[in-house]
Amino acid sequence: MDRSPLPLPDTPMPSVEVSTVGLLDLDVDALVVPVFRGGVDGPGTDEVLEALGLEDSPRDEVFRGKVGQLLHLAAPGLRAGRVTLVGLGRLDGLSETVVRRALGSAVRELAPRCRTIATSVSLASVGPGGVRAAAEGALLGAYRYDAGRSQPRPRALETITLLTTTSERGAAERAVERATIHARAQYVARDLVTCPPDRLGPPEFAEVARAILPDEVEVEVWDEERLSAEGCGGLLAVGRGSSRPPRLVRLRWAPEGAVARVALVGKGITFDTGGISLKRPSEIMTGMKGDMAGAAAVLAVFTALADLKVPVEVTGELCLAENMIDGDAQRPSDVITVRGGTTVEVMNTDAEGRLVLADGLALAAEDGVDAIVDLATLTGAAIRAIGPRATAVFSNDDDLLRQLLGAGEAAGEAMWHMPLWEDLRDNLESDVADLNNLGRGDEAGATMAALFLREFVDSTPWVHLDIAGPAWQDEDRYHEPRHGTGVPTRTLLRWLEASTD
Ligand code: BES
Ligand code: MN
Ligand code: ZN
Repeated sequence: MDRSPLPLPDTPMPSVEVSTVGLLDLDVDALVVPVFRGGVDGPGTDEVLEALGLEDSPRDEVFRGKVGQLLHLAAPGLRAGRVTLVGLGRLDGLSETVVRRALGSAVRELAPRCRTIATSVSLASVGPGGVRAAAEGALLGAYRYDAGRSQPRPRALETITLLTTTSERGAAERAVERATIHARAQYVARDLVTCPPDRLGPPEFAEVARAILPDEVEVEVWDEERLSAEGCGGLLAVGRGSSRPPRLVRLRWAPEGAVARVALVGKGITFDTGGISLKRPSEIMTGMKGDMAGAAAVLAVFTALADLKVPVEVTGELCLAENMIDGDAQRPSDVITVRGGTTVEVMNTDAEGRLVLADGLALAAEDGVDAIVDLATLTGAAIRAIGPRATAVFSNDDDLLRQLLGAGEAAGEAMWHMPLWEDLRDNLESDVADLNNLGRGDEAGATMAALFLREFVDSTPWVHLDIAGPAWQDEDRYHEPRHGTGVPTRTLLRWLEASTD
């Protein structure tokens, strides 16, 4: 197997084009025809169904038009010998999220066998964001991780054509351009999360950051000596049990005339065994190569800032360590000192994410930025509280909170606001240090982790995104593939873009 020196899977992405040609005149391998429950959308779709002799057939019996439901038809009478109907659900439930999901499902199935696909989503029925959502769904749905196979599976799809009317064309092209940049960034996050942990330890992750970012982004890597000199005891303590040392990667995008300064801090545990507080049963360890999804999404965001001309100064802290066991691993009961001098009693070595984030958050706060957003696969408790599909959101600032929730909504990445109960702060106290990292017992685990993080941001407006659930999934779902989903890359990009408006 060809193993490149860097773990850069670099999954290829098709391109999206806008066209005003009639649906039936297009020379493509497959037409994707969006169909409502009880109706048909888009210019030309009636014609297609008529041409297929399907206009009167009882579609509801075989094909109910549920969101993302597919019906593949041979259509020998058409140029595109193949037609795929894709459900959009009910007309009154139509949204950008529905369009993104429907196109994602359709393209995932067609991508291995069709070189060219065309579809129509009219702006009129979905609003101006509809074309963007369609392009995002199509591009994200085409993703498939193949980097570890000795023989790559066939990957046919090259072009997706979105049909619009002439008057919509300019707006559609701008929408597609944004969608392409966002999807490309999300591919980067997915590639990193799904990449096996033997290939991607902290030093390798840092090398990837150096290799893939455009020149406009400054990259600084702190190795273990520098971390020690800078007092980053959280990263050092968590990394002690691994033969692959921790790294802090510091990123900076500083456009001229920046309107604000924000910091993104990502948890980057390249594998989480739990350490001496070993994870049990061992099955729960299988997804833990994805415990660097926060850092992956931060890096992914930085790949897109220059292309999007984001007018905000953005710094990034990738907190990279591998949580392993050996004779030098940290013990439950150790007391460590993190950046800024706070001491922490490590009651459980499996609560390691908050230790590495403490260093990153303290550094971001020292920088005096206007806002800090951290992203972390931090707690199983977040999944137990709100289920695996949504990000649990904690904040000390209502305005910043609203901005992030709005960006999540626009990106179609579910988010839910969670409480930072002041009354539980006592549980972070320790008999032997300033804080303990467990928060006593297993109640409100996601909130306890968030309260711990809050200790390190001072009074900086801050949002904490616990992505333990949505960063990873076991089955393909709409535009999101199994394993690394790349969430919440597009939420962050939407948020940073919104400052342009
Ligand atoms: N990486 C895990 C959290 C996690 C769990 C992410 C499931 C994705 C899916 C984190 O480091 C962890 O182990 N958290 C512990 C904290 C506990 C020891 C206080 C947890 O959630 O059980
Ligand atoms: Mn852990
Ligand atoms: Zn972890």
